[in-house]
Amino acid sequence: MGRVSGKVALVTGAGSGIGRGAAIALAAEGATVVATDVDTAGNAETVALITKAGGKARALTQDVADEARWAAVIGDVKAHEKELHILVNNAGIAIAADIFTMEYKDWQRQMSINVDGVFFGVKHGVPLIAASGGGSVINISSVAGLQGAAGLAGYCASKGAVRLFTKAAALECAQAKMNVRVNSVHPGIIDTSIWQKMPQNGMGAIQMPAIAAGANTLDPQLIGQGTPIGYAGLPSDIANGIVFLASEESRYMTGAELVIDGGMTAS
Ligand SMILES: NC(=O)c1ccc[n+]([C@@H]2O[C@H](COP(=O)([O-])OP(=O)(O)OC[C@H]3O[C@@H](n4cnc5c(N)ncnc54)[C@H](O)[C@@H]3O)[C@@H](O)[C@H]2O)c1
Repeated sequence: MGRVSGKVALVTGAGSGIGRGAAIALAAEGATVVATDVDTAGNAETVALITKAGGKARALTQDVADEARWAAVIGDVKAHEKELHILVNNAGIAIAADIFTMEYKDWQRQMSINVDGVFFGVKHGVPLIAASGGGSVINISSVAGLQGAAGLAGYCASKGAVRLFTKAAALECAQAKMNVRVNSVHPGIIDTSIWQKMPQNGMGAIQMPAIAAGANTLDPQLIGQGTPIGYAGLPSDIANGIVFLASEESRYMTGAELVIDGGMTAS
């Protein structure tokens, strides 16, 4: 019996990195996974990995910044799986730029995916979770939602917004007796393709506190050396926390922050 057996889970940004890890881990613990991503090929690969391992999953193409698509995706889940219990708002991007050269269109794009996407997910997903008897929403923030980082102001603003939106959503759900818990996860430096994809605008090198002196690369190995534990985390390290928050093991947690960062925010 898996820890989330019989549950239906929707994971956004499931075509890569942490989202893929979460989709695989939830399916391995018995959930039926609806994997969504703008990257249709990567998402299909995630679903193939799950089904090959004997799990249940299907793919939907979704841009989380598009509210109409959110309504359609939730409608699709209602039509096919009938129920929804777990929503992992994971899709996100990171743009490295100092404030003085950051283009407004980049600021807006980052906010629309990282913040609007989470708002739409809760707005459209929670009613179905409540109608399914309740469940758990997991919003992926970051250590950048807990502390500032030069060169990542826009990203910090977006992840800080996710942190407090999560707490307000948790209170609204509790007040409405929906039996829906809402928590945020705060990964540190996790070895995923986000580092290679990160557009640089005006920054020769990002200046996160974790970067070792003199480092001028986004190589996760090097960045990992700047974290107290000494190495970058893996998507599975975050997926383990997501499964915990998705399962009944965390039944008394809502509006909380699960920090998984190798000690980055300990000092
Ligand atoms: N990797 C890290 O070190 C780290 C640290 C803290 C927080 N995070 C957060 O974790 C989440 C996952 O990041 P990751 O490291 O796995 O990155 P990733 O780039 O490997 O995966 C992100 C996925 O989101 C998808 N995506 C991007 N824009 C989208 C959109 N508009 N609609 C739907 N899907 C979209 C991408 O196609 C990709 O598959 C993000 O929210 C990120 O900010 C990552």
